[in-house]
Amino acid sequence: MKASDARVLLTGASGGIGRAVADALLAAGASLLLVGRDGTRLQQMLRTLAERHPGTDERLAWQCADLDRDDELGPLAGTAAAWRCNVLVHGAGVPAFGRLRTLAPAQMRATLAINLLAPMLLTQALLPHFQALPRAQVICIGSALGRIGMPGFSVYCASKFGLRGFAEALRRELADSSVAVQYLGPRSTRTNFNTRGVEEYNRATGSAMDRPERVAQALLRQLEDERPERFIGFPETLAVRLNGLAAPWLDGAFAKHRRSLPIS
Ligand SMILES: NC(=O)c1ccc[n+]([C@@H]2O[C@H](COP(=O)([O-])OP(=O)(O)OC[C@H]3O[C@@H](n4cnc5c(N)ncnc54)[C@H](OP(=O)(O)O)[C@@H]3O)[C@@H](O)[C@H]2O)c1
Repeated sequence: MKASDARVLLTGASGGIGRAVADALLAAGASLLLVGRDGTRLQQMLRTLAERHPGTDERLAWQCADLDRDDELGPLAGTAAAWRCNVLVHGAGVPAFGRLRTLAPAQMRATLAINLLAPMLLTQALLPHFQALPRAQVICIGSALGRIGMPGFSVYCASKFGLRGFAEALRRELADSSVAVQYLGPRSTRTNFNTRGVEEYNRATGSAMDRPERVAQALLRQLEDERPERFIGFPETLAVRLNGLAAPWLDGAFAKHRRSLPIS
């Protein structure tokens, strides 16, 4: 849909990519319901956005929600429906980097809960409202690592492969409805999401890191062209295609990544 028709619930709004997405969507004419856990941060963000884009106050709203709490998802969906939301962007996410043996069970649970289960539950909660609209879109911010299994990212990949599978299946399930389901796969992006360890790993493996504004522009394009899937950057887009065709062919291509992982 046209950005100016979009009323977007944006989770992860306070994050590095979320802020850039909010800025780009607001500039393009969308209305935004910003979601995060910290109300003070969201209000500050709202003020900054309104200053950068004068005259947009009426198009900005915020709502606190902890997506790890099932009991907060229903009320959030209710608020979004009352606000006449027609686009849901799943931007919240948590990282999990390191050899599997070094990951704490709580971190593994949180990664699956926030990156995978919460988007499924929130989509489910908003679906009755969306299906009553002439057009609605669900855009999942996944990752290139939702298509490419990368050493050091086993649990994170599981969450993003899962999210991509959810988006693909639901898109087909809803193909005869008014609801489009889309998946955006950024590659590594410069935000606080990535620890110094990840930055060193990226340097050692020659992996590029994008600015969040690049992801935001890709999301804006995807909102408007309604493409089901979009990945960002070369060679990641090629690797995504090859891995989709025959993943075992690429197994040997990741020796450098394996060697570049921290020991512990
Ligand atoms: N950065 C990258 O390299 C990269 C690459 C590809 C894909 N991605 C994906 O892009 C998305 C955004 O990443 P980012 O780089 O912007 O990360 P970020 O800067 O760390 O921001 C993470 C966001 O998730 C929210 N969040 C975390 N746990 C939450 C919870 N329990 N309830 C509600 N919100 C919660 C945070 O909100 P609070 O204010 O509540 O903390 C914050 O807004 C994620 O899904 C990530 O997987 C990132």
